[in-house]
Amino acid sequence: MRHLLNPLDFTVEEIDELLALAGEIEKDPSRFAHVCDGKKLATCFYEPSTRTRLSFESAMLSLGGSVLGFASADSSSAAKGESIADTIRIISCYADICAVRHPKEGAALVASLHSGIPVINAGDGGHQHPTQTLTDLLTIHSLKGRLSDLTIGLCGDLKFGRTVHSLINALVRYPGVRFILISPPELKIPEYIRQDVLRAGHVEFKELGNLDEALPELDILYMTRVQRERFFNEEDYIRLKDCYILTPKKMKLAKEDMYILHPLPRVNEISVEVDKDPRAAYFRQAQYGVYIRMALIMKLLEVEKRC
Ligand code: NCD
Repeated sequence: MRHLLNPLDFTVEEIDELLALAGEIEKDPSRFAHVCDGKKLATCFYEPSTRTRLSFESAMLSLGGSVLGFASADSSSAAKGESIADTIRIISCYADICAVRHPKEGAALVASLHSGIPVINAGDGGHQHPTQTLTDLLTIHSLKGRLSDLTIGLCGDLKFGRTVHSLINALVRYPGVRFILISPPELKIPEYIRQDVLRAGHVEFKELGNLDEALPELDILYMTRVQRERFFNEEDYIRLKDCYILTPKKMKLAKEDMYILHPLPRVNEISVEVDKDPRAAYFRQAQYGVYIRMALIMKLLEVEKRC
């Protein structure tokens, strides 16, 4: 039985296969409309979500399966003090596969150790978010035709942004990828990513405070929101929340074929006027999230071999 806790749980070849399958699904979703007939997906979300939870549910429904679950810790037995280990044991009796989002780093790993069904990490605290990464890889691949030889700018809250951590983890495996990490000093990437992932992998990167300086070099700009819920005090959040705002004026500094990605939700970091720019790819990215989750569910339930 396989789980997905970290993007590195899949080899580069397996990720290529998933992207190819998602591409097939995009071309003709009706071909896949019954491959999960009779199967159930549980979504166990202890933290707020719109896209991740609903795209998982939409994905399973589009495959012919059904969904059950809870959307907040308050509406589950966590509110009575039940551990995630016990909850997942029970969910294993009710469903065939489970997506878990939790505010604590490592929660999905703990769930996987006690689970009788595949567990997908749908975000564990400020740590990892592998299915957002699969979405991001599919989006970049669709827009640029490759995942290698790209200059990727990651901007905003690089300290607490789990989508950033997972995306760096995944992209360092492709040749010729370089990173420009744009953040205020307080929100720089964690030291373990700088040392154990980037330096250890001899990956080219630089850290900047200024977005304008980075923009002309980028092939992809990955914007992120400042993660209010992970701050220890509100004053720091208020001071940092609007540190970067991408506007049409700033977009003049970017290449004609530089695409903007954002895992969403957006708060203030991309002005709504940028939405009209053909390089704004964040809403398309959300659509890709459904295709890649369909491919992922098929892989973990081992139904993809039958198609
Ligand atoms: C992200 C998350 O939950 O980490 N959202 C998402 O899943 N698309 C990003 C965020 O909340 O800022």
